[in-house]
Amino acid sequence: MKEIVLSGIRSTGNLHLGNYFGALRNFIKMQDENLCYFFIADLHSLTTHPDPVNFHENVKTVLAEYLASGLDPEKSVIFVQSSVPEVSELYTLMNMLAYVGELERTASFKEKVRKHPNNVNAGLLTYPVLMAADILIHRANKVPVGKDQEQHLEMTRVFARRFNNMYNVEFFPEPAAYNFGTELIKIPGLDGSGKMGKSEGNGIYLADDEKTIRKKVMRAVTDSGPAVPGAPMSEPVKNLFVILETVSDADTVSFFKDRYDAGEIRYGDLKKQLADDICKITLPIRERILEIRNNEKYLSETVRYGVAKARESAAATLAGVKEIMGFKSFY
Ligand code: TYM
Repeated sequence: MKEIVLSGIRSTGNLHLGNYFGALRNFIKMQDENLCYFFIADLHSLTTHPDPVNFHENVKTVLAEYLASGLDPEKSVIFVQSSVPEVSELYTLMNMLAYVGELERTASFKEKVRKHPNNVNAGLLTYPVLMAADILIHRANKVPVGKDQEQHLEMTRVFARRFNNMYNVEFFPEPAAYNFGTELIKIPGLDGSGKMGKSEGNGIYLADDEKTIRKKVMRAVTDSGPAVPGAPMSEPVKNLFVILETVSDADTVSFFKDRYDAGEIRYGDLKKQLADDICKITLPIRERILEIRNNEKYLSETVRYGVAKARESAAATLAGVKEIMGFKSFY
């Protein structure tokens, strides 16, 4: 039986290497083997109060970058979160099952409170509930995500289980990460610490041109080189190796690892290789982004087609949930 796969990306900016390798790689295989739903999480992006002037343009940008990465609207269901109002209704219902204490303990919520103490809105607190609604509305059982979304996925399983137990049904499956056969990954940023993120200014975007990519990689933080052969790697250098392992072949990685261990590595060479291999992956995607982004007709037809299919599946789930919860129609 085909698995139901669901993947989401917030419409807060251009897609970067972290998004690509965390959630989108192996698109082709994923689409051929499963029933895939891919959507743009525009409601989730509202927690940071984006400018209404750019709001819709951001959605179109992510849509174009999604498609340019290899998504095929003939095979997968592609839609925008806010165009499927059933998601918001399920979110309301699931909020009744989510406890404030567990939401407050979520790592991402605590981090937002620390970083943006003046914008601790309720949408941030219930962010994992909306994400659970996204997943459960299609009764997805596989969710491709990076390491940073692991806890949110775990909470989705908790909510699904709680619903099933509370109403004594086997309605929602407990979704697992689609991990591409490996551990969930975290692509680090180029600034020496932390993950690559849209708002961190430490990323390489799928839409970057070659010159920009080379400049960013050559400026990536390193150290002054291994003091002696076999010296342990510093965090920034480890991070570059993580990216190298993701974009380059095994021989290239072991060549540079050997150089490092021998105390003979030249970071300039490592960065050049890294930039070459990143360009090989992203530049063809960039070309397609440029083609697709201004094709308004293609973008709107794709979404219209996808939204209709997504709403069909969402309406069926929502009807099931409401029946289980005891809603009855007056007419
Ligand atoms: P977002 O938009 O921050 O990221 C989209 C996807 O990219 C992955 N990702 C990374 N993976 C590895 N290394 C990184 N540096 C990195 N940065 C981002 C994320 O893990 C994610 O898979 N809440 C979600 C969007 C969402 C969603 C969903 C995802 C809403 N509803 C339902 C899956 C299912 C988010 O903010 O992702």
